[in-house]
Amino acid sequence: MSTYRVATIGLGVGRGHIDEAWAALPDQFELAAVCDLDDTRLDAARAAYGVEGTKDFDALLARDDIDIVDICTPPALHLPQVLAALEAGKHVICEKPLAGSLRDIDAMAEAEARSPGHLMPIFQYRYGAGAMTARAIVDAGLAGKPLAATAETFWFRDADYYAIPWRGTWKTELGGTMTTHAIHIHDMMTWLMGPVEAVFGRLTTRAHDIETEDTATASLRFASGALGALTANVASQDEYSRLFLAFENVTFESTREPYAVGKGPWTMTIRDPEIRAKIGALVASLPDPGNRFTGQMRAFHHALETGAPPPVSVADARDAIALLTAFYMSAETGREVTLPLPDADPGRAGWPQQARGNAA
Ligand SMILES: NC(=O)c1ccc[n+]([C@@H]2O[C@H](COP(=O)([O-])OP(=O)(O)OC[C@H]3O[C@@H](n4cnc5c(N)ncnc54)[C@H](O)[C@@H]3O)[C@@H](O)[C@H]2O)c1
Repeated sequence: MSTYRVATIGLGVGRGHIDEAWAALPDQFELAAVCDLDDTRLDAARAAYGVEGTKDFDALLARDDIDIVDICTPPALHLPQVLAALEAGKHVICEKPLAGSLRDIDAMAEAEARSPGHLMPIFQYRYGAGAMTARAIVDAGLAGKPLAATAETFWFRDADYYAIPWRGTWKTELGGTMTTHAIHIHDMMTWLMGPVEAVFGRLTTRAHDIETEDTATASLRFASGALGALTANVASQDEYSRLFLAFENVTFESTREPYAVGKGPWTMTIRDPEIRAKIGALVASLPDPGNRFTGQMRAFHHALETGAPPPVSVADARDAIALLTAFYMSAETGREVTLPLPDADPGRAGWPQQARGNAA
C-alpha cells in the first residue's frame, strides 16, 4: 500500500482536512507541506504539524516529492490553481464550489483528461453511514421510484464571518449561501434522487450586509418526474440541516446535525415487511464508510491504489454547478430554467449575478 505525500494550500478549512484525514490516516497519507499567504496561519500549522510551510504555491508544484495538492483557498482561485496543479501532473483535491461556471468545470475536466493526475472535488457530507446506507439501498433497487424530497439548510454566520473580504461578493465567493453552504445537501439530494430537469429559484438578502444571497428557496422537478424543495438561510438562530427523501418503498430522514448531516443512523420508514427484511439484510452487510473528510480521503486512497476513478468526480461537481446555474438564472428572470443547458447558452459561462458583480 502506498503512502501519498500531500501539500495543503489554504489553512482555514484546510486544517480540517489535515486533522480529519492527513494526520488521521498515517498509513495512507503524509502531510509534506502547508501553504498560505497568512503568516499567523502558516506559523501555527508549521508548529502544529512539524512540516515545512511556504507562501509559494508554484514552488510546491515543482517538487517531485508531493503527490497530492489539496486546494482549500477561496473559490475564485480554484480554477487557476487546479489547472496549474493538474498541468504539473499532481493528483488534486479541491474544496467546493469547484468552480463558478460550467465552462470552468469543463476546462478542469479537460485538464484532468490530459494529466496523469486525478481531480477529486470535496463533498465530504456524503461520508457518513446515514447517507451511504441510503445510497446503497437506492443502488440495489430497493427504494423504488423517487417521489418527493426536501432539503433544509439553516445555518448561522455572523458579521465577523462576512468581514473576510472574499466572502459575500459575486466576484470572489462566486455565489451566496446556495453556492457556499447549501451546495452540500443539494449534492446529496441529487446523488440520491437523480438528475434535476427543471428549477424555479428565488433569492434574497435579509440579514447580512453582503452582495450575495443569504436566503434562498427553489422548486425542482427531477428527470424521473419526482419533485423537490430547497430552503437555505444563513442567519438562522437555530442551526440544522435536514434531508427528507420519499421513495416508493422507503422514506429517509437525515440527522439534523448541520456539519455532519450524512452521519448515521438516518431514520428509515418501510411499511412492507418483505422489503424491510431485504433492506435490513443489505444494511447489515455494509462497511463503515467513515465520516466527512476521513471517509472521503480514505475512499480516494482506495481509488488511487486500485486505479478506480475518484469516489467524488468532476461530473458530480458539474451536476452541482448546473443546478446552481439554473437556480441563479431562474432567480434573475423569474422563469423556470430547464437542464441541461444548451451548448450555446450564455449561462454556461456563469450566472448573471456574477457578471453584474464583476462589472461593479
Ligand atoms: N467542505 C466544507 O465543509 C468547507 C467548509 C469551509 C470552507 N469550505 C471551502 O473552502 C474554501 C476556503 O474556505 P475557508 O473558510 O477555509 O476560507 P479562509 O479565508 O478561512 O481560508 C482560506 C485561506 O487561503 C489562503 N490563501 C488565499 N490565497 C492564497 C494563495 N494564493 N496561496 C495560498 N494560500 C492562499 C488565505 O490566506 C486563507 O488563510 C472555500 O472554497 C470554501 O467554500 C469548505
